[in-house]
Amino acid sequence: MCGIVGYIGRKEAKPIILNGLSRLEYRGYDSAGIATIESGKLTTIKSLGRVSDLEKVPGMESLKGTLGIGHTRWATHGKPSRENSHPHMDNSESFAVVHNGIIENYADLKDFLKDNGYTFLSQTDTEVIPNLIHFHYSVSTETGNKKFIKAVTDTCNMLKGSYALEILANDYPDNMIVVRKDSPLVIGKGQDEKYISSDIPAILSFTKDFYLLNDNEFAFMSRENIEFFDKNLRPISKTAQSITWNAGAAEKEGFEDFMLKEIHEQSKSIRETIGSRITENGSSSIPDIDVSKDYLKSVNKIFIIACGTAMHAGYVGKTIFESLCEIPVEVEAASEFRYRNPIINEKTLCLFISQSGETADTIAALKLAKSCGARTIAISNVIGSSISREADYTVYTHAGPEIAVASTKAYTAQIALLAIIAIHFAEILELNEEKVNELKKDILELPNQIDEVLKTKEQIKQFAQRVYKETDMFFIGRGVDYAVALEGSLKLKEISYIHSEAYPSGELKHGPIALIENNVTVISVLTNRMLVEKSVSNIQEVSTRGAKTFIVTNQELNHSFDTVINIPKTNVLISPILSVIPLQLLAYYISKEKGLDVDKPRNLAKSVTVE
Ligand code: F6R
Repeated sequence: MCGIVGYIGRKEAKPIILNGLSRLEYRGYDSAGIATIESGKLTTIKSLGRVSDLEKVPGMESLKGTLGIGHTRWATHGKPSRENSHPHMDNSESFAVVHNGIIENYADLKDFLKDNGYTFLSQTDTEVIPNLIHFHYSVSTETGNKKFIKAVTDTCNMLKGSYALEILANDYPDNMIVVRKDSPLVIGKGQDEKYISSDIPAILSFTKDFYLLNDNEFAFMSRENIEFFDKNLRPISKTAQSITWNAGAAEKEGFEDFMLKEIHEQSKSIRETIGSRITENGSSSIPDIDVSKDYLKSVNKIFIIACGTAMHAGYVGKTIFESLCEIPVEVEAASEFRYRNPIINEKTLCLFISQSGETADTIAALKLAKSCGARTIAISNVIGSSISREADYTVYTHAGPEIAVASTKAYTAQIALLAIIAIHFAEILELNEEKVNELKKDILELPNQIDEVLKTKEQIKQFAQRVYKETDMFFIGRGVDYAVALEGSLKLKEISYIHSEAYPSGELKHGPIALIENNVTVISVLTNRMLVEKSVSNIQEVSTRGAKTFIVTNQELNHSFDTVINIPKTNVLISPILSVIPLQLLAYYISKEKGLDVDKPRNLAKSVTVE
């Protein structure tokens, strides 16, 4: 995780870097730091805590350089502390480095450097990097820019693991080198200036033109120029791509928090994700996936692989694909899939879902599936993300930048896109025409229905005020409602720190019901007409044992329960897109009642680029 930002140009670097870092804080907020070069001298300033703490460190006011690098940290190696904060420098303070990723062989490299007389101030893996650069630089026979460049490529050729790096050198006060491998990094292009960042939204207010680096690609920058090359110093030609997101998309726009804003954006993000992919009367169109009927007929298993919330979207996708395409689907956590020798071959189709497109486990699982001969489809929200560059086909959710750590609008967009892909495949396979046509109509109604669901927020807020002091809650549902229960439970844990568990409603009596006692909160989702009776019985079972019940439903219930949130009726296959919203809002309002930082919950980071 961690976020990195850099600037080289004619303006003062510090405000640009601090602005970018504060937008990247969702990637980690254990400590922050900055380095600039002014009058040929490297200066670094670091602080424990957030970017706002860094701003107050004495000396910050005098940093005036026009090139610099910055970092916001999510601690992996070494506890959060000032000395473990980035930028790290080599012993001679000639090089400064910020790093996002993990150097797996850092212990061996540290031993190597110690044998060569180097000492270490931090417990981090990163500190080996500036020292290795110094080591190669000091023994180099190269001259000019090549001496700096070669010291960096020689260093990277020794590193195992993942890294996005920004490097400054005292001897090169007008240059910066950046490189990436398995960690994200983009370069924004301006007039005689470059903006570097871990993600696009952090620097979107400065430029819309971006160079996307692939793994093991380096950039050597001056204010006017940029040269790209590979690890063997072979030049690479690259053109900048223009991004259509507007800068406002990465602002709160009047909402108290990004999470609340993103919950409210769901009608827009679903509308944009649908785009022209489906219409009420025509056939679906997904030009990004080019598969034939013969190929789809040969597929005997679909895997949906992802992590966290994206995996929960996958559970809903399983029901949709099985129902429309009649192909068995398994959903698996990427971190499990990659280590268990799954049975995959050319008849397996693997779908990978990742909002960020940078989740290390999901990318590793994708590489594994490809190496076993499976065709791979990535669903991502970030154009040019790592996953999109690995997969055979990539289809984008158009949810816009998701800044809050807890995912909301990406989840609903992922389900919508899974449904659209399933429709597309069913049409190619000429299966279930009636179901497909009905589902298309129902998907097109979702944006307006989402706005209806948002009207329940006062009722949800009142319930949150009643239950926010609790320590345990339960979520139950059947079928896709159970998938939503999993997601509701995750949201609650993440941002309110309340322990919660999700169970299939029918499983309660096999054990968990022993935990239900007076006043325990049980949250139920009930959107399947075929299962109303059974689900209501399960809710009654907990209610008679004294549970407070909060029910999200689009069915008429013939019993009175504590709090019932009525949502519009829709096709059960896509009902999670509506039924999850009250659960997102419940987690949000509980977190607010507890006075927590909704957008940046403790211990979490938005994109999990470590394994
Ligand atoms: C939860 C959440 C995480 C992510 C997970 C995968 O709110 O955001 O569980 O869903 O880390 O992230 P992506 O989708 O970026 O691969």
